[in-house]
Amino acid sequence: MPIRPPETRNWWSVPLGWEEKTWLSIVVVVGLAMFVMMPLWHAFGAQNSPTESYRVSPNGYWQKVMAFNDGNGGLSRRDASGVKPTGDDVYLGAMQWAWLPNQTVLEVGHRYRIHLSSKDVNHGFSLHKEGEAAQKANFQVVPGYEYVLTMTFEEPGTYEIVCQEYCGLGHQYMVGKIVVEGER
Ligand code: CUA
Repeated sequence: MPIRPPETRNWWSVPLGWEEKTWLSIVVVVGLAMFVMMPLWHAFGAQNSPTESYRVSPNGYWQKVMAFNDGNGGLSRRDASGVKPTGDDVYLGAMQWAWLPNQTVLEVGHRYRIHLSSKDVNHGFSLHKEGEAAQKANFQVVPGYEYVLTMTFEEPGTYEIVCQEYCGLGHQYMVGKIVVEGER
């Protein structure tokens, strides 16, 4: 059926029909329900964005990352399998074009505080289990801000960190690993 102009010219002053009123009511109700769900989901949802974040200097944060990566300062140990935190804190850093530590070794079922920031430009922290396409987590990594993600790995295995924010010519090489050990 071709689209033809309405027969009466000032059709916009005609009152709404019942179909339009019904659809508009549904839209308003769904919109309000989603609005209410935002804070509720934040409180009760299983995967929430971090509410803990700090302003930091990129260089100051990088000092911590390098100490953690080298096994200095008591927060970690480094051996052939990678960098193992001695406590709950993991200092992860993003730079063009690598993750530091390149390979972190964690324990299954342990609740970690994963600190995340960037040395230079915006990067993206996307976590996948090896061989699976589904994303486990997805966060922005912004220079000057330190985010603290609370994470517990429920299954042992190798998890890949992929940069999901275009950050320059070497962006596609910016991958890292988290190896989760132990039995669940
Ligand atoms: Cu870092 Cu893309």
